[in-house]
Amino acid sequence: MRSVDLRDTPDGPVVEMIDQTQLPDRLVTLTCRTAAEVTAAIARLSVRGAPAIGVAGAMGVALAAWHGRAVEAEVDQLRNARPTAVNLARGVDRAAAALTDGYPAVRDAALALRDEEEAASAAMATLGANLVGELLGDRSALVLTHCNTGALATTGDGTALAVVRELHRRRRLAGVIASETRPLLQGARLTGWELASFGAPYRIAVDGAGPFLLARGEANVVLLGADRVCANGDVVNKVGTYAHALGARRAGVPFVVVAPESTVDRATATGAEVSIEDRDPAEVLLFAGRTVAPAGAAAVNPAFDVTPAELVTALVTDRRVVRYDRGDVL
Ligand code: MRU
Repeated sequence: MRSVDLRDTPDGPVVEMIDQTQLPDRLVTLTCRTAAEVTAAIARLSVRGAPAIGVAGAMGVALAAWHGRAVEAEVDQLRNARPTAVNLARGVDRAAAALTDGYPAVRDAALALRDEEEAASAAMATLGANLVGELLGDRSALVLTHCNTGALATTGDGTALAVVRELHRRRRLAGVIASETRPLLQGARLTGWELASFGAPYRIAVDGAGPFLLARGEANVVLLGADRVCANGDVVNKVGTYAHALGARRAGVPFVVVAPESTVDRATATGAEVSIEDRDPAEVLLFAGRTVAPAGAAAVNPAFDVTPAELVTALVTDRRVVRYDRGDVL
């Protein structure tokens, strides 16, 4: 099953998604019948990952179109469910552009986006694995990755994790370190689950271990995704990415970002212009449902950070490989 999909039923269309909040304990399908339900699912991360929320947003617009009540407000809520990944607003806008032609046109726009993201995953897997081969020569890949960039985060095999999967298929993968990704543990829960499902050797590390593991030679390439790539090449991605980039630069390890063209945002000049989602402090103050800080402790919980372009070795999209290390420009 895809991470998110739309199905027409006799009672109207439904958006079905794997409820990622339940993984790895339970593989549960969540069914949304209204745009408001899709908005809520995006906000609580039942569906997450930049390409996947773009598709979910577009499908949510299709539900709004079918019901035909307060469509403008519902579209607005979908668009603003999360601020950082450019894919969400883009996916919503693309589907909303078909609203004047009625539900079938909106549904088809959403399904076209789903299929394009699936094809983009396949293209990134090939281009990315080829690049890793060029960067590493005879060596097999020891990958450090962060957050979840796999099939759960897209409607295909993923972005960076699709590259990992392709390296594994080519027998060029020696191992993966997945950083756990505090506070919502997308790395431990979701990337671990996906790596296990395709039989790749992997270990989970705490986020703070990344730079030291790179210094100790336990990874020879960093592969991760993006929620937005700005016009100057700055990469906005899950908080913790910047630390891995600094560690990679210090250790002389290539830092490769894998993201579809749908995540490249030429309208945003630099990472400083991006609205970084601040989430509920409770996500930081609680661990496994239990408070772990003194009563009354405050917390700051940015969901993303900005990695300056100068720390990025290369960007792999579905159409090209931008080798910053060789002077290419975005
Ligand atoms: O908060 P999330 O889990 O939606 O954050 C996701 C990420 O930061 C991913 O790395 C990014 O979307 C790339 S996924 C293909």
